[in-house]
Amino acid sequence: MRDKTKLIHGYHAFDDETGASSIPIYQCSTFKQASIKDGQAYTYSRFGNPTRTALEEAVAVLENGKYATAFASGMGAISAVLLSFNQGDHLVMCKSIYGGTFQLVNEVMNRFGIEVTFVDETKLEEWEHAIRPNTRGLYLETPSNPLLSVTDIAGVAAIAKEHHLVTMIDNTFMTPQFQKPLALGVDVVIHSATKFINGHSDVVAGLVVTNDEDWHNQIKLQQKVLGGILGVEDCWLTMRGLKTMGLRMEQSARSAEKISHMLENHPVVQKVHYPGLPSHPGYEVHKRQAISGGAVLSFELASQEAVYTFADALQIPIAAVSLGGVESILSYPVTMSHACVPKEERDKQGVTEGLLRLSVGIEDTEDLIADLEQALAKVQIAVK
Ligand SMILES: Cc1ncc(COP(=O)(O)O)c(C=O)c1O
Repeated sequence: MRDKTKLIHGYHAFDDETGASSIPIYQCSTFKQASIKDGQAYTYSRFGNPTRTALEEAVAVLENGKYATAFASGMGAISAVLLSFNQGDHLVMCKSIYGGTFQLVNEVMNRFGIEVTFVDETKLEEWEHAIRPNTRGLYLETPSNPLLSVTDIAGVAAIAKEHHLVTMIDNTFMTPQFQKPLALGVDVVIHSATKFINGHSDVVAGLVVTNDEDWHNQIKLQQKVLGGILGVEDCWLTMRGLKTMGLRMEQSARSAEKISHMLENHPVVQKVHYPGLPSHPGYEVHKRQAISGGAVLSFELASQEAVYTFADALQIPIAAVSLGGVESILSYPVTMSHACVPKEERDKQGVTEGLLRLSVGIEDTEDLIADLEQALAKVQIAVK
C-alpha cells in the first residue's frame, strides 16, 4: 500500500462495531469494569482511550513504526522523550533547533543535571567529537526550524550506533509523508502534530513513534505519569486532518518550491533557505533522505524595517506563530518561535532580524506568488 492509500485504509480507520466511517470519540474519563477482580484493555483515559489508540496506531503505521504515543503538544512529546534521561547524562543536539526545545534544555533539563552540547548539525565530525563517556543520545531536527538546516540522518544514526547511543529526531517539518527516519536508523521520532499532521491550525498535539519496545514502555510511562495526554476530541480532529495530509503536503510543497525559486531571483531577497533548492548547502543530503523539499521555507530581507514593510503589505498569508496549516502562515522568528532564545544565541544560530519564515498553505500557487511579489515590490520602493 502506498502512503496516500495508507492514510485512508492503512490502519484502524473505521469503527468495527458499527461500521461508522470514523472512529467514535470515546468521551469518558473511566470505563465500567466487568469485574473488580481483573483488569481490562481500557480502565482510565489517562492510561488509554480507544480514540487515542486509533490515532497512535495510525501514526505508527505511517512512520513504519511499531508504537506511537500521543501528547497534548509537540513540546509534551519532546519533554517526554528528553526527560527520559537521567541526572548526569549528556546529550548532543543540533544547534539550529526549535526555540521551545532550546528553552526546555536550558531552563528545565539543566535543573535535573542533564547536560547538552549543541553542535553544527551539518558537520558529522562535530557530532562525533562532542560524544563523551556519559553521552546517552543524539538529537536532531532536520530540516530545522527556522533555517531549514539539513542534517545527514543516516550519518548521525550510524555514529550513534557505533557508540551505543539513542538517536532522536524531530520530524515535524517533513511529516512521515516526506521523510521516514526509522528506516534511516533513528530510534525515536517526534512530531508536533499541531503542524502538518493535523494541518488545520485547530489542534495542538504531539506524537512519539518508535520500534524499540523499551523506549516505547518508557514513553508510555512518561505519558501516564506526567499526564500530558492528548484529549479525545483533539485525537479525533487529528485523525480527520491526517487523512488529507498527502494531498495537502503535495500541493503545499509544489507551491513552496516555485516560491523559493521566485524569491531566490528577487533583488530584495538576500538569501533563501529551502532544502528543495539546488543552491541549498544541504540539497544533496536532503534529496537522499526525503522525497520533497517540504512546505516551509525562510528568507532574509535586509533589515527589520524591510521585514515590517513586507509583512504589512502581504494580503494572503496570515501573520502568526505556527506552521503547517491549510492557510499560508508568515512568521517572524525573532518575535515569535525564537523570542525565548537569547539574542546572543539567536545570532549564533543565524536567526537574524531580517529573517522571515513562510509555511506554504494549499492556496493557488499563482495567487501566493502574486501576493509575495507585490509585497516585495513595496520593500523595493521603500529602499529607494
Ligand atoms: C520543529 C518543531 N518542533 C516542535 C514544536 C513544538 O510543538 P507544539 O507547539 O505542538 O508544542 C514546534 C512548534 O512550532 C516546531 O516547529
